[in-house]
Amino acid sequence: MNDMVILISGSGSNMVALAQAAQQRHWQARFGAHIRCVISNRPDAAGLAKARDLGLHTEVLDHRSFKDHPQPRDAFDAALAELVQSHQPRWVLLAGFMRVLTPVFLDRFEHSVMNIHPSLLPAFPGLNTHERALAAGCRFAGASVHWVNSELDAGHIIDQVVVPISPGDDAQSLAARVLTQEHVLYPRAVERVLSGQT
Ligand code: GRF
Repeated sequence: MNDMVILISGSGSNMVALAQAAQQRHWQARFGAHIRCVISNRPDAAGLAKARDLGLHTEVLDHRSFKDHPQPRDAFDAALAELVQSHQPRWVLLAGFMRVLTPVFLDRFEHSVMNIHPSLLPAFPGLNTHERALAAGCRFAGASVHWVNSELDAGHIIDQVVVPISPGDDAQSLAARVLTQEHVLYPRAVERVLSGQT
């Protein structure tokens, strides 16, 4: 009843954190929450092998195969919605999924799609968040888990973590420190949702 599908595009470290939390914190027994599938829009995503190593079912839907379609974004989103729906999830977790989803997808999964973003939203939606936080002279960075709507990184916030910026930080060192905290934050936020605390 709380089954999940995770969407990735890259290294999949947040997906691994979620899968480990699901196992270690007994999400299936406690909440009826099982990760049904990990789907990547990139066939070369390193996270796919990590998911298989964890015993998770994986699928690939390559967005580039829709490029000759008159409306490639909508066509991809419609196909993705079908694929996700075939696993009948209650929740869809975006974990480093680097595609903006349109209403073609989102209308099918209203109030069900969560995302993790590496900034303290509403500051710095979009790309290059760490560079922008450093350029703005921020003293604190962080990450946010939020509901997904059709505006980029703008849905209601579920949970956040604050990461202090050190004087010697560059975008790479900051990203690495924030990512470690993302791995704590995302499972915590999902567990909050599963236990009805939102
Ligand atoms: C994370 O920083 C996530 O917040 C952002 O992209 C990165 C993905 O990392 N959206 P991973 O694929 O989970 O390792």
